[in-house]
Amino acid sequence: MKKICMIGSGYVGLVTGACLADFGNQITCVDVAEDKIASLNRGQIPFYEPGLRELVERNKAKKRLAFTTDLPESIRKCEIVFIAVGTPMDKDGAVDLSAVFDVAHTVAENLNGYKIVVNKSTVPVGTGARVRQVIREHTGGKVEFDVVSNPEFLREGSAIGDFMHPDRVVIGTSSTRAMKIMSRIYRPLYLIETPIIRTTLETAELIKYASNAFLATKISFINEVAMLCEQVGADIQVLAKAVGLDGRIGSKFLHAGAGYGGSCFPKDTVGLLKVAEAAGAELKIVKAAVKANEEQRKRMVRKVIQAVGDLAGKTIGVLGLSFKPRTDDVREAPALYIIQDLQKRGAKIRAYDPVAMPNAGRVLDRVTFCDDAYAVCQGADALVFMTEWNEFRELDMTRIKELLIEPVIIDTRNIYDPEQMDNLGFRYVGVGRGKPCQA
Ligand code: UGA
Repeated sequence: MKKICMIGSGYVGLVTGACLADFGNQITCVDVAEDKIASLNRGQIPFYEPGLRELVERNKAKKRLAFTTDLPESIRKCEIVFIAVGTPMDKDGAVDLSAVFDVAHTVAENLNGYKIVVNKSTVPVGTGARVRQVIREHTGGKVEFDVVSNPEFLREGSAIGDFMHPDRVVIGTSSTRAMKIMSRIYRPLYLIETPIIRTTLETAELIKYASNAFLATKISFINEVAMLCEQVGADIQVLAKAVGLDGRIGSKFLHAGAGYGGSCFPKDTVGLLKVAEAAGAELKIVKAAVKANEEQRKRMVRKVIQAVGDLAGKTIGVLGLSFKPRTDDVREAPALYIIQDLQKRGAKIRAYDPVAMPNAGRVLDRVTFCDDAYAVCQGADALVFMTEWNEFRELDMTRIKELLIEPVIIDTRNIYDPEQMDNLGFRYVGVGRGKPCQA
């Protein structure tokens, strides 16, 4: 059992803290936001993540998980400090590290014995070394400590499963003492044969960026091939399946759609480009992936225009507002981008999302939020699917057709079968589903 202080009770900190508590450790989650800590102490989770509330409740009840705003006290009482604070993108696309360095100073001021400082936040290469420098300068080398990079690979919507059954755990440090302690923390995962990559700080930091940039590139690649499918009369769904069955390629992240969004891929691809630029290395492939993603969003707007015609005075129904299903996170959500573009062209929007409407409402203006998918269709000129929530997969399409003014569907996630939609009398537009030439 280790005493751990988790600094930052956002998405990464809270999930990691709750999961490490479940392994039997003593976790104190800290945050500067008093209202967040107060609601966590009342048992309320500030965002939607399946299974997290139960996990937090269970570990709170066992007294393994506590929440506080008292950072100095929490640092002094623990053996390991995890930094899981936000690293937002500034207006130039660079990563804003001010929260990380603020924490490093507070750690230095409260270093009352050997501690490990673990960086969980996604940070540019070299940040761990700078954190070490800040603490060393502040303490004058009087107290021992080590800095570790331990990047997270959690997906929103399935974060607990990803933590408990990861593809790998990455631990980056040059200290054998810290490596031993970190390996102990992850022993429950080692016992289920999770590969543990032990490496340097710098390599660990770059592994995180390279992983996200590769996944983003895979999505942009398949989206561009989808565009080609439309031109030549091929089907991206069949193509992606066949390509993905090659074990060297793999079937995951080959789902063509409206482009990637969220708090990670858009920020991390641009962040990696900045890191590379500063290091004098040009990453042409990542640059192209970012550009292709911007294009993909615009292409979705063009699809709506092609299907509906002039948008002035038209009403468009939108299903799905978050950047993907099973989350209420609307950061960089293609849906929001597309809605705002359609509004600029004079369209009125009716929308529904199972969990993301409160967050979307804080960003969007003049949207009529509805109680369900059918209410969205009432009086709409077309229906646009933006995410693939399970509850959107089995809708009563006969009823949808009756409710819509025109039977037009733009399915940016390829949830429905084009042939079935044609048979039902819809004008159906998917992504990458070209019609074959008739012989
Ligand atoms: C991503 C990574 O998958 C995690 O491994 C990583 O830890 C996390 O970022 C992070 O850096 O913290 P997440 O942003 O939660 O996780 O979401 P993903 O499931 O990766 O989806 C990202 C975007 O790509 C979504 O907009 C999704 O709709 C899109 N996507 C994904 C596709 O368009 N096609 C696909 O085949 C897969």
